[in-house]
Amino acid sequence: MTNTNISEYAHLSQAAKEYMECDKQTRIQYIRSPRWIGYPKALEIIEKLEDLQSYPRRHRMPNMLIVGESNSGKTMIAERFLEKNPPYEREDNEGVVIPVLFVQAPPVPSESRLYSNILEKMFAPYRPSDTAEKKHYQAIQLMKYCNVQMLVIDEIHSILAGNLEKQRVFLSVLRNLGNELKIPIVGLGIKDALRAVKTDPQLDNRFKPTILPRWEYGQDYRRLLASFESMLPLAQPSKLSARPIATKLLSMSDGLIGELSELLSEAAVQAISNGKECIDLQLLNDLQWLSPGERRLQNG
Ligand SMILES: Nc1ncnc2c1ncn2[C@@H]1O[C@H](COP(=O)(O)OP(=O)(O)OP(=O)(O)O)[C@@H](O)[C@H]1O
Ligand SMILES: [Mg+2]
Repeated sequence: MTNTNISEYAHLSQAAKEYMECDKQTRIQYIRSPRWIGYPKALEIIEKLEDLQSYPRRHRMPNMLIVGESNSGKTMIAERFLEKNPPYEREDNEGVVIPVLFVQAPPVPSESRLYSNILEKMFAPYRPSDTAEKKHYQAIQLMKYCNVQMLVIDEIHSILAGNLEKQRVFLSVLRNLGNELKIPIVGLGIKDALRAVKTDPQLDNRFKPTILPRWEYGQDYRRLLASFESMLPLAQPSKLSARPIATKLLSMSDGLIGELSELLSEAAVQAISNGKECIDLQLLNDLQWLSPGERRLQNG
């Protein structure tokens, strides 16, 4: 294809335009690869994280809880923030500085397993069978040495997998960790995470929840659709932000960005395979797609 043709794809981003020159398989692979859209709520949360990161160090640091349903984009936001704050070599070349440490919460509220996750993430040698005290000491030393300025813990709601006493102990571990290091702690989780944190009044005061809501029909949502459309290398415009198709996509995805992203990828792949080269209502109706709500009903 010539450059004259490329300039015709006015509905596409530069990257997507370039993919229009590739064969179908390569375009499909591109469609299925991860992409980032900086929608307003995500940018607002990233700004809050930046604010928190530059907060002057003190004994009682403020913390943050990012709460949203599964597939609402929480982890992507943390990963984006992480990309902006990558580890770098210390000036004395004696190791690395890790401005933001991103770990998973253990599947049960176990202090020892939290430290294991931290040590693993920092490539520290440790024995899983070491005592919690030993791992705690090692984790604190290492985090200080690497000048960790913020600890982000994903899937924080898994604390609820333990009994109340275990939850309480685990939450006090989190509190002490923040105090000891004088760094903010950010938790990501589904709504249950709020319930978990509320069991500890001292933490409840210091974990400010930020909600990542489902998408509703409106200008931001339509802009999101326009961004998705510009990233999908299809020859014809789909006008995803026009009302009928936008409403259809909202109900098929239940307003969850993860569902929307997957649905649009499948639809775009279909549009390439059948030669239609755009996503329209007919194509969406023909997809074997169940919304998350319908899937739940089907699975009983
Ligand atoms: N900013 C974004 N731009 C484009 N796509 C996104 C964005 N955020 C999320 N997505 C899409 O949604 C999917 C789910 O996002 P993510 O894994 O961050 O959700 P989550 O809230 O962490 O879900 P869970 O609670 O199940 O872990 C991603 O794989 C991606 O396809
Ligand atoms: Mg996640």
